[in-house]
Amino acid sequence: MIRNQWYGVLESNEVKRGRITAVTRMSEKLVFWRDTDDHVVCMRDLCPHLGAPLRRGKLKDGHLACPFHGFEFDPGGACVYLPAYGRNGEIPKALKVGTYLTHEVQGMVFIYWGDPSTGPQPPKFFESIGEGFSFSRVSQHWSVHYSRMVENQLDVSHLPFIHASTIGRGGRMVVDGPLVEMRDGDMEIWVYNRRDDGTPPRKAEELPPPTRHPFLQFRFPNLWHNWISDDVRVTAMFAPVDEENGVLYLRFYQRFMSLPVLRDLVNLVGKWGNIVIANQDRRIVSHQMPKKTDLKMGEKIMQSDRAILLYRQQRHRLQKEAGQV
Ligand code: FES
Ligand SMILES: [Fe+2]
Repeated sequence: MIRNQWYGVLESNEVKRGRITAVTRMSEKLVFWRDTDDHVVCMRDLCPHLGAPLRRGKLKDGHLACPFHGFEFDPGGACVYLPAYGRNGEIPKALKVGTYLTHEVQGMVFIYWGDPSTGPQPPKFFESIGEGFSFSRVSQHWSVHYSRMVENQLDVSHLPFIHASTIGRGGRMVVDGPLVEMRDGDMEIWVYNRRDDGTPPRKAEELPPPTRHPFLQFRFPNLWHNWISDDVRVTAMFAPVDEENGVLYLRFYQRFMSLPVLRDLVNLVGKWGNIVIANQDRRIVSHQMPKKTDLKMGEKIMQSDRAILLYRQQRHRLQKEAGQV
């Protein structure tokens, strides 16, 4: 995981008003809830008093009350009521629950995993998916670190094998390039797979300059965009659970059909397609070993894995900037 980054961790509809959502993310037990302004609060699921699970607590007037001794915490994590000291008791300043900054964009909840004093700018979703798009969504648990899930979506040579019956039909096994560029911190990838005509794969430098938008776009640390056409996109958010688990949030976006019932039908078909394809990947990827990737881990990276290599390099660079390595 990379410090000082906004990680997409949940769909907004998973955090309902008046309810506590308890999940593990970033290898930590967390609770999410909405304050009186509907703003999402993210706290450690750990009461600073005697370590009770806050997920068993109650929401009261915009505060979270611990189930054990009733201490109440405000959205910033400060204890604002300590029943054993009475209404007017003095509350120690140090009595605070750990919190994370949160932000909602396009119906997704992000938390800032790092030091808030680094002055984080709000996270951004893919700008080209704007007005006129509707979408369907699906989520899946994968028993592998999110880095393997990311790399799976940057892997351009697995399609004719894992997806032979779906998006990998046609036997385009030879990988020219791929062409990978960094733009404003995003990775942009153009895929040039073809059938084997006996000629060697071309290197990225030998490819003509692209004439279309990138097929794939990866926004650090955990968002992915497949630009299928101007009117059809698939996005993914790879939420880190812990060192061996992640949650894949997929969305199918389209804007070619806006008539109410047909629109929903098209989006449903897109959702099924996403499920079928993700299951094909998960069958293999969730058994990759080790479960987590690193820049130097002894795997044999090929020319066709260029996007995976650049991901590992850039992630390492960001971790270095954050003082982690
Ligand atoms: S453990 Fe939470 S109030 Fe005591
Ligand atoms: Fe795949």
